[in-house]
Amino acid sequence: MARRTIIAGNWKMYKTHEEAVSTTLALIDGKGGMKGREMAIFVPAVFAREVASMSKGKGLDVGMQNMYNQKEGAFTGENSPVMVKDAGCRYILIGHSERRHVFGEKDEIINAKVRAAYEFGLEPMLCIGELLEEYEAGKSKEVCRNQLIADLRGITVDQMKVMTIAYEPVWAIGTGKVATPEIAQNIHAYCREVLTELYGKETGEIIPLLYGGSVKPDNAAGLLSQTDIDGLLVGGASLKADSFIAIANA
Ligand code: 13P
Repeated sequence: MARRTIIAGNWKMYKTHEEAVSTTLALIDGKGGMKGREMAIFVPAVFAREVASMSKGKGLDVGMQNMYNQKEGAFTGENSPVMVKDAGCRYILIGHSERRHVFGEKDEIINAKVRAAYEFGLEPMLCIGELLEEYEAGKSKEVCRNQLIADLRGITVDQMKVMTIAYEPVWAIGTGKVATPEIAQNIHAYCREVLTELYGKETGEIIPLLYGGSVKPDNAAGLLSQTDIDGLLVGGASLKADSFIAIANA
């Protein structure tokens, strides 16, 4: 089975309602063939239903950027997996570095969210990646390995068939310091080794591994040319339809 290629945008906490609608329309109108790649956007919760309904059947998948791990309850300020699904989302982003390092999410809660995604019919995109000091100490692989093992605890081979992993080195996010294609490929190949160890060769081979961190139209092609880089998770450069489309067609 061939591995899918996914170009995903993470809008983070940006855009007014009007901007969300106009960017979605521009993406639908302008994305073109994208060389057989899939396109997805992770939008703020308040825009999810409308963006998902606009995108339905248009080759643009939608996800939310975070959720809680319970079906419902007294959890003020949170969105449940049922709500994400009901809004029309296909995907849910889990464990983004800003959730881990700004909001203090630990692997245990990230694992609970991954389990909840499966329980309620969402496709998780799990983000992993090391901090600058861990990178400088040569610990990138160790950090990614530990995160994969902890965050995927209890997840079955069958469930992994609809898993996507995004490697986002924290030192490359929003800093303009993109990992070189070689650095990224090296970590991606290692993550595939870990996934193969955990889930077997067949599953390890088909899980799409996306790279994220300062992806721009001019560095996208180099990253995508690597054997184990199966897509991109784009922050800043996904906010404008033009640059996101250029990346998707790179
Ligand atoms: P930037 O592309 O802005 O570096 O952000 C990457 C990211 O965090 C995507 O989830």
